[in-house]
Amino acid sequence: MNIENSRDYYGKVLTGSSDLKTDACCTIEAPPPAVIDALANVHEEVRARYFGCGFVAPQAIEGCHVLDLGSGSGQDAYVLAQLVGETGSVTGVDTTPEQLEVANRHLDWHRERFGYAKSNVSFVEGDIEKLGELGLPEGHFDVIVSNCVINLVADKQAVFEAACKLLKPGGELYFSDVYADRRVPAHLLDDPVLHGECLAGALYWFDFVDQARRAGFRDPRLVTSRPLGIDDAEIAAKLDGIAFHSATARLFKLADLEPLCEDYGQAVRYRGTVPGEERVFALDDHHHIEQGRMFAVCGNTWKMLADTRFADHFDFFGDFSTHYGIFPDCGTLFPLQSPASEPAPVGGGCC
Ligand SMILES: C[S@@+](CC[C@H](N)C(=O)[O-])C[C@H]1O[C@@H](n2cnc3c(N)ncnc32)[C@H](O)[C@@H]1O
Repeated sequence: MNIENSRDYYGKVLTGSSDLKTDACCTIEAPPPAVIDALANVHEEVRARYFGCGFVAPQAIEGCHVLDLGSGSGQDAYVLAQLVGETGSVTGVDTTPEQLEVANRHLDWHRERFGYAKSNVSFVEGDIEKLGELGLPEGHFDVIVSNCVINLVADKQAVFEAACKLLKPGGELYFSDVYADRRVPAHLLDDPVLHGECLAGALYWFDFVDQARRAGFRDPRLVTSRPLGIDDAEIAAKLDGIAFHSATARLFKLADLEPLCEDYGQAVRYRGTVPGEERVFALDDHHHIEQGRMFAVCGNTWKMLADTRFADHFDFFGDFSTHYGIFPDCGTLFPLQSPASEPAPVGGGCC
């Protein structure tokens, strides 16, 4: 029923963001400056049908090939099309014809607005649960994004596995979604509003981590999170005390990441060269790396910087020749039981 309900909810029930009953599919925080500029170049009809829950604009994506899972009316695709520039590309996949119709109708409008000779955006109709059957090239994408979609899908593991295959080595899945502080009882999936509002299918964070690891993403990192308010009394009653967060996670396709953060005495120094994050580079919620300052890292964080598109933005000190045990001050993976976590102070850090 999931996919039929999604098509119905996003194609027929909702005519725009104001029809939503909760703030699960809303983005409340202020966008980064580059996204604000890019949003000014997105058609108003596309923006009116935006239902995302975070900003899926990872750093340093100029020239990248990006895939957007559940691209809806295309807002993120058109923002990313500007951030990747004319040499990059964005492919959106969605299952709802009404959403795709809006996205496709404005392809040429955006091409002209961006001043590109040829559009660098395309949309494909398809079910992301069967992502591997859509004819997309394996090992092709630098970045896969998704904004408030994976919760809607029944077989999330299949999505993570297919996404991992489509990424280049060193590429990343960077996505915003809704998470629950416990496993949501299965019978709530029968409620079309709870499912459509991105609540009934929300993943419990630790199940997500387990599924991501089994799919090949060995060290999922939390980037940002915020608690969701459920103001609708009827919906809140059905949810019976379950708390929800909107969170953005990043998952690198790096084959040799270790299960835990191990200490090899390594450090990095940020060169201050990532556009928009010249002073502090935020890898995740607790690695906020100041320009010019030595920053101790575990082996996994080292690889996330050295074996990805971020390599040219850092100087690297040390190697893997000596193991000093577990990385000190490793925290929990995701404190979703409590209100949204604050970023750790600048300095050494690890998960
Ligand atoms: C909450 S909306 C988010 C849309 C878009 N990412 C945005 O930020 O505006 C969820 C979207 O996921 C799409 N969707 C749901 N299930 C899907 C599936 N199995 N395959 C592809 N798209 C799906 C819906 O059609 C809808 O456009």
